[in-house]
Amino acid sequence: MLIKGGLLFALLAYEALAAPTAAATTSASTSEYPFLSADGFTSDVWVKALAKAQQVVGGLSIQEKLNFTDIRGVNPTGCAAFTYPLPAAGIKEGLCYADGPTGINSKYSTQWPNELAAAASWDRDLIYLRAAAEGAEFSRVGAAVPFSIVAGPVGRSVYDGRSWEGFGPDPFLAGEAVRATVRAFQDAGVTGLLKHFVGNEQEYLRYGSPGGYLRSNDSATIDDIIDPATLRELYTYAFAEGIREGAGGIMCSYNKLDGVYACESGNLLNDLLKTELNFHGAVVTDFGAGRTTYGTAINGTDAIGGFAYMNLWGERLAPFVQNGSVPEAVLDDKLVRILTPFYALDQESLPEVDYDRWVANKTSAIVAREVTEGAITLLKNSNETGLGLPIKGVTDVALIGSAAAPGQFGILNNLGTFWYLNSSPFTGAISDGGGSGSSPAAYVVDPLAGFVKAGLEQERPVAIDGFYSDDPSAGIVIGETGPVVPIDVKLAGAPVAFVHVSAVAEEGYDRVSLELLNNGSALINYVAARHNNTVVVVEAPGAVDMSQWYSHPNVTAILFTYFGGQEMGSAIANVAFGKVNPSGKLPFTIAKNVQDYPVNLYNGSIVVNPISNFSEGVFIDYKYFDEQGISPLYEFGYGLSYTTFSLSDASAWAKTGPCPAAVRETNEKLYIDGKLSDIGVYDYAATVQVTVANTGKVDGAEVAQLYVTYPDGIPRKMPVKSLRGFIKPYLKAGESQTVQFELRNKDLAYWSPDYSGWVVPRGKFTFHIGTSSLTDEAGGFPLVSRPLGHGSTFTPQSDPEDHAHTGPFFDPACPEVAEAVLAWAKYASS
Ligand SMILES: *[C@@H]1O[C@H](CO)[C@@H](O)[C@H](O)[C@H]1NC(C)=O
Ligand SMILES: *[C@@H]1O[C@H](CO)[C@@H](O)[C@H](O)[C@H]1NC(C)=O
Ligand SMILES: *[C@@H]1O[C@H](CO)[C@@H](O)[C@H](O)[C@H]1NC(C)=O
Ligand SMILES: *[C@@H]1O[C@H](CO)[C@@H](O)[C@H](O)[C@H]1NC(C)=O
Ligand SMILES: *[C@@H]1O[C@H](CO)[C@@H](O)[C@H](O)[C@H]1NC(C)=O
Ligand SMILES: *[C@@H]1O[C@H](CO)[C@@H](O)[C@H](O)[C@H]1NC(C)=O
Ligand SMILES: *[C@@H]1O[C@H](CO)[C@@H](O)[C@H](O)[C@H]1NC(C)=O
Ligand SMILES: *[C@@H]1O[C@H](CO)[C@@H](O)[C@H](O)[C@H]1NC(C)=O
Ligand SMILES: *[C@@H]1O[C@H](CO)[C@@H](O)[C@H](O)[C@H]1NC(C)=O
Ligand SMILES: *[C@@H]1O[C@H](CO)[C@@H](O)[C@H](O)[C@H]1NC(C)=O
Ligand SMILES: *[C@@H]1O[C@H](CO)[C@@H](O)[C@H](O)[C@H]1NC(C)=O
Repeated sequence: MLIKGGLLFALLAYEALAAPTAAATTSASTSEYPFLSADGFTSDVWVKALAKAQQVVGGLSIQEKLNFTDIRGVNPTGCAAFTYPLPAAGIKEGLCYADGPTGINSKYSTQWPNELAAAASWDRDLIYLRAAAEGAEFSRVGAAVPFSIVAGPVGRSVYDGRSWEGFGPDPFLAGEAVRATVRAFQDAGVTGLLKHFVGNEQEYLRYGSPGGYLRSNDSATIDDIIDPATLRELYTYAFAEGIREGAGGIMCSYNKLDGVYACESGNLLNDLLKTELNFHGAVVTDFGAGRTTYGTAINGTDAIGGFAYMNLWGERLAPFVQNGSVPEAVLDDKLVRILTPFYALDQESLPEVDYDRWVANKTSAIVAREVTEGAITLLKNSNETGLGLPIKGVTDVALIGSAAAPGQFGILNNLGTFWYLNSSPFTGAISDGGGSGSSPAAYVVDPLAGFVKAGLEQERPVAIDGFYSDDPSAGIVIGETGPVVPIDVKLAGAPVAFVHVSAVAEEGYDRVSLELLNNGSALINYVAARHNNTVVVVEAPGAVDMSQWYSHPNVTAILFTYFGGQEMGSAIANVAFGKVNPSGKLPFTIAKNVQDYPVNLYNGSIVVNPISNFSEGVFIDYKYFDEQGISPLYEFGYGLSYTTFSLSDASAWAKTGPCPAAVRETNEKLYIDGKLSDIGVYDYAATVQVTVANTGKVDGAEVAQLYVTYPDGIPRKMPVKSLRGFIKPYLKAGESQTVQFELRNKDLAYWSPDYSGWVVPRGKFTFHIGTSSLTDEAGGFPLVSRPLGHGSTFTPQSDPEDHAHTGPFFDPACPEVAEAVLAWAKYASS
């Protein structure tokens, strides 16, 4: 199929897809227990660590081994879970499992922008830097195994309560983000643990109860039906990338898959994860996600995560080992899988656990701010001089809405504990979500604080005034001259009004609607009716309903901030004043109307074995919109800049050769022409090149995005477009750069249930290189049709001391570990 304007690419001269032979594998099940072996390690450090782990475990008594599988009743630390010590193995205190993705559960650490924000930067270096600095904080606390890398939920449903914790619904973008994050954590000496394996795409009934915290009724736990191709192409895709990078841990999820609890599924853990994906670390249950001693022990779980009352092993496991129904070798393998990463990452040298130790520092604050600056996405901007962003030279700024000012919980914002969406209204700046994935902060620079700070840096201090309520009728003053409406006074006093609105999400609950909190849409419309330069700032976990105001002519700019972490206000203000040119791109789709999204979750009554059938396959987010022909409001990959870019001179050529894993090869198989190929799934297939030019007047960064359209003739409907590459060059005004995307066989393959493997089809692939999922600039399509910003007064940040982003060093395809470590070390010591 030739797509107009696309880059046609007929690299692969394979014959027409042959029908599978009778010999093709039909079942993935194996009777062999997947004992950890060195097969697949590409790193000597890990081979040696495995040998040491095997030797140490060989010398332990059965009591020592069983004792180590116990959950420690009294946990003297701030760790989420803590094991007993195992002195013979070098575990002096116990192994610390720690929450969570946006930082340590201590206010003396940094509250990071969420992983969805990191994904929105589309910048591997920033993602690496965020995780390197976060990992270093876990390391300094002494927390060996952070529960921090979210490869799922991906956000199958826009209503999902936890997808803000991860890297979004596109497997390629998430896979790259997971890779950078795993490497950075493990470079810092803490385990890169990926969660949740797999299919935890809703909170309602995840644990058999409507509010997902209490395990009220196991029979009512949500049961996912996911076909094998969708499982590989979407839900386990980023896990595979993380394993190749060396991820030493994986957390199994609450839900069932095909009728079996994920943490007790031999098909899922022993066959798919540990055999096909060749996972080399330990599987730990989500808290309470294991239900039986025998099921977890025999079907692939290696450690029980949770509070003491969720304990399934220790003494309870002993009789099963004694009578041989859980072979001692299986118990040994669990300890080997826990100790191998422990030795490979030299965790014996971690300090004693201390959650009161100050681990945040100036460097981490700078990195946190820069990630949020790189993430903030400019969705709309006026092209009329004097309106919209940036606001260079203004004398007065009006900040409107509670989300511009301190959150009601102050620095305890979200505290790793829970505020209940259904019962408590939430006001104030939103820097993080709720639940175990959130983190307290030592401080939050809310937008007011950020604007004051940035205002003072201008040549002339800027007057900052505000109205920090979401109710425009609040605070009417009856004076001598009659009623005065404070918000109107503030609006009249400034040439620009920033309306801050928000939405929240937390673990345990799905979002009940996509409405802004506290009637935010009405607040925006109130302001827009009275002010011709209304800038909207959205602080939210994901898509929100913008239908009531996005097209209002007085809404001159829209900024989307995600959960910006403790430096959110600095980042927003730096973008607003033009100190930073926005370059974030949406890692998900925003629809014109809420009805345009599929609901994609089970929201029915509590019944025995409620089913969530993922029958839409891989067609979520932009792949769904493309397939249905629904035009979104702001598409996946979209985001504006204060400058303009062009893409040109696209070309592509075949490339062969290995692209070795940093740590561990998987056992995924590649089929070509109906035959098992000796070419690796991850070997190179092609290089695609394009030139990106900054054609505007200010410095900035653009994300060149490569989407692939598959050939016709595949026995299954494929997405219209699939993201398969992205690169974000930072370009001075007038500068251009030629960038290359390296494609691997997997990037041109689909997963075939007939072969139980990846198949690269013969035929013509079409490549689209654009600046969003709907553009195709390099193929001759016109530039984005939305108005671009004027922004001619933007000045780049010049103080290198205050700048973490040192240029590309995290290689997109086959990374050189040494290079990344070097760049981080250089930066960290400055
Ligand atoms: C495990 O060992 C610890 C001491 O390290 C002890 O307090 C605990 O009771 C033991 N548990 C079992 C089940 O033996
Ligand atoms: C600050 O923290 C980073 C990692 O978060 C570390 O590399 C750096 O050495 C620390 N700087 C100081 C001055 O402690
Ligand atoms: C182990 O997993 C298999 C396949 O996933 C499942 O059929 C079986 O019931 C599980 N066994 C136990 C004891 O849970
Ligand atoms: C082994 O012991 C467990 C726990 O007591 C029991 O449930 C199981 O039936 C026993 N299996 C055999 C084969 O004796
Ligand atoms: C799910 O049901 C609840 C209760 O009826 C409702 O409030 C909520 O809006 C529903 N969510 C979705 C996504 O339809
Ligand atoms: C939101 O504000 C509008 C306009 O003031 C009002 O009509 C509407 O009832 C409000 N909605 C809620 C849920 O408060
Ligand atoms: C835009 O704002 C101006 C005030 O600056 C107001 O007079 C006008 O009615 C507004 N436009 C709309 C469509 O509300
Ligand atoms: C916007 O409103 C201000 C204040 O009312 C006015 O001075 C200015 O001319 C208006 N600008 C535009 C472009 O309408
Ligand atoms: C669990 O839920 C099912 C379905 O609603 C119900 O039939 C069953 O009685 C419940 N069991 C308990 C122990 O509440
Ligand atoms: C799930 O959906 C698929 C596709 O519509 C259908 O074939 C299958 O029977 C469904 N499975 C269940 C358990 O409902
Ligand atoms: C501004 O944008 C509008 C609407 O897209 C367009 O018609 C107009 O030509 C643009 N003006 C400039 C100066 O680019």
